[in-house]
Amino acid sequence: MAGPIPELEERATACARRLADADCVLLASHIDADGLTSAAIASQALERAGIPFETVFEKQLDADAIAAIAATEYDTVLFTDFGSGQLDEITVHEDEGAFTPIIADHHQPADSETHYHLNPLLFGIDGASELSGAGASYVLARALADVSEVQRRETAKRTTTTDGGASAARADNRDLAALAVVGAVGDMQASGGELHGANERIVAEGVEAGVIETSTDLALYGKQTRPLPKLLEYATDVRIPGISGSERGALSFLDDLDLELKRTGGGDNTGTSTSTSTSTSDGNWRRWAELSGDEKQTVASALVKRAVSRGVPASKIDQLVGTAYVLSEEPVGTELRDASEFSTLLNATARYDRADVGLGVCLGDRDEALDRARTLLRDHRRNLSNGIELVTEEGVTHAEHVQWFHAEDRIRETIVGIVAGMAMGNAGISRSKPIIAFADKRDEAGSDAPDKNDSEKHEQTQDVKVSARATHSLTRQGLDLSAVMSQAARAVGGDGGGHNVAAGATVPKGEERAFVDRADELVGDQLS
Ligand code: C5P
Ligand code: C5P
Ligand code: C5P
Ligand code: ZN
Repeated sequence: MAGPIPELEERATACARRLADADCVLLASHIDADGLTSAAIASQALERAGIPFETVFEKQLDADAIAAIAATEYDTVLFTDFGSGQLDEITVHEDEGAFTPIIADHHQPADSETHYHLNPLLFGIDGASELSGAGASYVLARALADVSEVQRRETAKRTTTTDGGASAARADNRDLAALAVVGAVGDMQASGGELHGANERIVAEGVEAGVIETSTDLALYGKQTRPLPKLLEYATDVRIPGISGSERGALSFLDDLDLELKRTGGGDNTGTSTSTSTSTSDGNWRRWAELSGDEKQTVASALVKRAVSRGVPASKIDQLVGTAYVLSEEPVGTELRDASEFSTLLNATARYDRADVGLGVCLGDRDEALDRARTLLRDHRRNLSNGIELVTEEGVTHAEHVQWFHAEDRIRETIVGIVAGMAMGNAGISRSKPIIAFADKRDEAGSDAPDKNDSEKHEQTQDVKVSARATHSLTRQGLDLSAVMSQAARAVGGDGGGHNVAAGATVPKGEERAFVDRADELVGDQLS
């Protein structure tokens, strides 16, 4: 059977065979939306293949985390959404016989190689815009279904499976494409309003399997859960004068349309429990997802007309429309139905040390885990909006080729990158230079990493987290933040990596200025 991405097929099959030979597997994944969906895909694939496993999450797969993994008794370790960038460290343990690594990742590989390494970048596919960690995990999951199907046939001689589309999709793991799309969208791989390349092929499989629907739709965040006025008021990517950022403006714009946009009968509020409404009347407004096609058309045309009349440039107006990725099996009006809202819900768990909650939601827990995730989402949204306000008010410092700010302990290190990316384009924050954000690392109280012969690192040297973000237009001009983060960090005694468009590092406190200077030079070189 052919897998979704022919270029990766052979390597995926090799990785799947090795997994199928394992007695049990330690699955290690990254703590963001893409890492969670990667883990959810991999764990369902392992479970369906009858391979016992345990799951762990890491904020950063550093030397200590890898050493802790090596110290476990697992001799097969599946890394998802990280591992490539730490290949040098991982292969040291592999060579010592601690474990066999299988890696499904899309980050820039470190200078080393291993046998079971599934990464789009090794096969000419862009890991920043064409395939996410969840996508790589999906390719592996599809191969694992094939491998275990072959094994089943060999042992059972006759098969008694398949009756209709849904169970066929489960049998070959195509139903997991929905989570892969959430991972890709969560990693901001959609550009120009849609997913591209290998991601598109995964979308197509999801559509075939009946778990994804795509349509050309309004490209605003919150189509499922935000009451219409909030959807418009909070839209920041494309600013529409008189509506964006204005509650009154949004309300009067909607009131002026000749449509019944309020709920009749009041009372019911499907899926509204998560709305961060300030105005008590919000519950009366319908959500975008509840509108009919005609109603959507009317609102969208009026929006476009308003934007044109207020002088919004055509290129910006184009961005109002994009491809919507809907998880068709999830209930209308919930975060889970929209790939972008789903991914934000996941970031709200994993980036706050509650990866277990996000994984639970991905694996189908619609009670306890979903409730908990929604509570975390409210906090996450508040933190993002406070963070963006802070950065915008205090402003950034402009060097020649980069701009930067230091949030110290005022923005959590796990979200400072999301804040930096979302703040780009606000007053004083350019979209034509990469942005570099610093935040203090919090002391990890519960670190269970064994600190053997690590005395020099032990003497209270505080580290600082760095996150860098850029635009796809800058990467097309030659910018590679992954290289910048990794080289500038190494120059000051730190470590970094990531993608061309979004990358990060850890550097010793006190080295921030030296780091910025080095990064500024490197970016200057790349863009010259
Ligand atoms: O480690 P991982 O690849 O999952 O992290 C990717 C991070 O980079 C996410 O926080 C995502 O939001 C960010 N990103 C971005 N813009 C892009 C691509 C990724 O902000 N174009
Ligand atoms: O949090 P996450 O990185 O997943 O956010 C992805 C995108 O969703 C952001 O870049 C932003 O455009 C949008 N978003 C939003 N409002 C929120 C959270 C996310 O508009 N409260
Ligand atoms: O943490 P943040 O969202 O800024 O990370 C952006 C990207 O940089 C992610 O893909 C992450 O895995 C990568 N990164 C890295 N090394 C670090 C920090 C972040 O490779 N020390
Ligand atoms: Zn990722």
